[in-house]
Amino acid sequence: MNKLGLFLTFLCLFGIALACESDYNPNLVTIGECKANDVAHWRETDSLPVVNPADLPAADRTVHEERMAYILSLARAQNKKFVASIYSPAGELLCVGINTGSPNIISHGEIVAINNCTTLHGIKSFTGHTLYTTGEPCAMCASALLWADFKTIVWGTFNSDLLCKICMSNIPMDSSYIFSRYYGLRPTAPVLIGGVLRADADAWFGTYCNRPTSIYYIKPQCACQNTSSPLNVTQTLVNTWIDGNQVQYSQFNAVIRNNANNVTVTNPTFKSLPSGVNPTQIWGLQKTSVADQWVLSWNPMLTPNQTFSFGYIIQGATELTFNAEAQH
Ligand SMILES: *[C@@H]1O[C@H](CO)[C@@H](O)[C@H](O)[C@H]1NC(C)=O
Ligand SMILES: *[C@@H]1O[C@H](CO)[C@@H](O)[C@H](O)[C@H]1NC(C)=O
Ligand SMILES: *[C@@H]1O[C@H](CO)[C@@H](O)[C@H](O)[C@H]1NC(C)=O
Ligand SMILES: *[C@@H]1O[C@H](CO)[C@@H](O)[C@H](O)[C@H]1NC(C)=O
Ligand SMILES: *[C@@H]1O[C@H](CO)[C@@H](O)[C@H](O)[C@H]1NC(C)=O
Repeated sequence: MNKLGLFLTFLCLFGIALACESDYNPNLVTIGECKANDVAHWRETDSLPVVNPADLPAADRTVHEERMAYILSLARAQNKKFVASIYSPAGELLCVGINTGSPNIISHGEIVAINNCTTLHGIKSFTGHTLYTTGEPCAMCASALLWADFKTIVWGTFNSDLLCKICMSNIPMDSSYIFSRYYGLRPTAPVLIGGVLRADADAWFGTYCNRPTSIYYIKPQCACQNTSSPLNVTQTLVNTWIDGNQVQYSQFNAVIRNNANNVTVTNPTFKSLPSGVNPTQIWGLQKTSVADQWVLSWNPMLTPNQTFSFGYIIQGATELTFNAEAQH
């Protein structure tokens, strides 16, 4: 035994009652769910469903719409985008919160409302309460709402629209992803209702896409899907590497599939995004004379269920988006 070993043994004997036997070592654990030699990982979890207000009983929908209309009216009156309100389990309006950017950048409407309710009513945990917000909770707020134990969360505009269609900076994530992790904190899932007075809320957010100097603006990086096209493009990252000049490259393989069971698509065209970004190499697709537009290099016809493969190499690690355009 070396000197360190002796010293540790001494420490152990000396402090046996306090330390050695009760020292917790996760690599020797026998009582958790994952055993000593397991790599501990989360179980696979689907995102929580988001209730469409159209599927609610009319009376419930009316209540949610009235409450959403109230925070939208506050938002307009104060000329602020993100406003939240909290209702007690008995349906009483307890407090509101407006994102004014004060005292700091994380003072989102939901956070302000929670703190406001605590100041006004001394509430520390919001079990059974309902929160309304003009815009879907961001990843930070969704986490806060889970910790706060809200029963129901209701929003007007979706995060995906805020970022992809309204060009407002946001963490690109559906709140239902965060909310689906409820099981680490509590036994029951919160109820999510998204898109209450959606058109009004969307109209209030307006668009920042043509206001690139606004502090809220960000150039979206989204995967857009033309729901009226039967063609589906799925991509897989197959390799990424860094060349001698420290430039990163990635290879993506992609499959176009005709999901229609009765429509043959001929000469489809695809638009690539972000605009003006080109792969360093591409096979299976070729450019047309229209900016960002691509056609299939061969077999330009896709029968029902038929697939077509292409691939490309691009600088960086972010895939290009290929959207199916009008079919001929
Ligand atoms: C707190 O909520 C009350 C009641 O809705 C509201 O009158 C007040 O303006 C809110 N305060 C803040 C800081 O948002
Ligand atoms: C597109 O294909 C992927 C992979 O097969 C599938 O997960 C996804 O649901 C499809 N989307 C549509 C709209 O068909
Ligand atoms: C294709 O099938 C869908 C549903 O099965 C149907 O609604 C549609 O009318 C069909 N289209 C054609 C062109 O037959
Ligand atoms: C396409 O695939 C679906 C599901 O895999 C199948 O039910 C359908 O019959 C197929 N249609 C054709 C025309 O092959
Ligand atoms: C979406 O697809 C439909 C059907 O293929 C097509 O008519 C339409 O032009 C497409 N929309 C866009 C914006 O490309």
